[in-house]
Amino acid sequence: MMLLSGSANRPLAERIAKELGRTLCDVTIKRFADGEIFVRIDENVRGRDVFIIQPTAPPAENIMELLLLLDAASRASAARVTAVIPYYGYARQDRKDQPRVAIGAKLLANLISTAGADRVVAIDLHQHQLQAFFDIPVDHLYALPVFAEHFKRRDLEPLVVVASDVGAAKMARGFARRLGGEIAMIDKSRPAHNVAEAVNVVGDVKGKTCLIPDDMIDTGGTVAEAVRALQQRGAKRIFVCATHALLSGPAVARLSELPVTEVAVTDTICVPEEKRFAGLQILPVANLLARAIRYIHENESVSSLFE
Ligand code: R5P
Repeated sequence: MMLLSGSANRPLAERIAKELGRTLCDVTIKRFADGEIFVRIDENVRGRDVFIIQPTAPPAENIMELLLLLDAASRASAARVTAVIPYYGYARQDRKDQPRVAIGAKLLANLISTAGADRVVAIDLHQHQLQAFFDIPVDHLYALPVFAEHFKRRDLEPLVVVASDVGAAKMARGFARRLGGEIAMIDKSRPAHNVAEAVNVVGDVKGKTCLIPDDMIDTGGTVAEAVRALQQRGAKRIFVCATHALLSGPAVARLSELPVTEVAVTDTICVPEEKRFAGLQILPVANLLARAIRYIHENESVSSLFE
């Protein structure tokens, strides 16, 4: 087994390697004068089971780095190359919902396969169906056990798990099953890109502890609207959790002003110091990914991680 990392989230890759009792393979990643990316794998990978760890969060250079590393590994005769993509960016562009738009999620899947990936590992894809965009095996992991472990240590009674929109309903059900509690749902509308509006709350949240799970926090608009709606309907305490902390634009300012007890995210995306605020909890997914990598390498069942 060889573990390689791009530069999108090297601290996570190092933690995964540590969990597996290994070191990361030496890789050179440089820029030419014009900004073009150069990668070189500095160790022999011929006949090896290679895992390349790189989330595809912005900037788009992270995608290019991943593609170049996949290409380098497969051209260097690795026996199998797995793209470990803790956060699969471009996932929201998964359909042609307006005339003349691209389907970015499918394009990225094609690029990853063409570059040489034999399989993909990802956590909390924006839609489960994204797996079908790949014609290679996809191991889709969930951060739910990581969050459940964390929230089991909090006193959340009486709990209502609140889906921040219809798309989050399945996730909310999973949380409610693990943590106990009821389910509520927010009827959200998106009048424009990155603009969220909570139109209604379906379910009783008055006097309850609300937990809002989501796959990602981008601008924080969805969470802010959900919290506002729950507060108006008398929620007692509100916790937020999201797997992927994109935290772009006004997110940090919005989240730090929210009347919530905690915002828990994972480290699938590297959260820089300047984006960390009081009440933000970053939970590690290295153990989850390390176990998935070990099971794949040893041809064991990955789904057993969630049983
Ligand atoms: C929506 O479908 C997603 O699950 C997230 O709720 C959304 O992308 C978060 O974006 P923002 O933080 O900008 O509202």
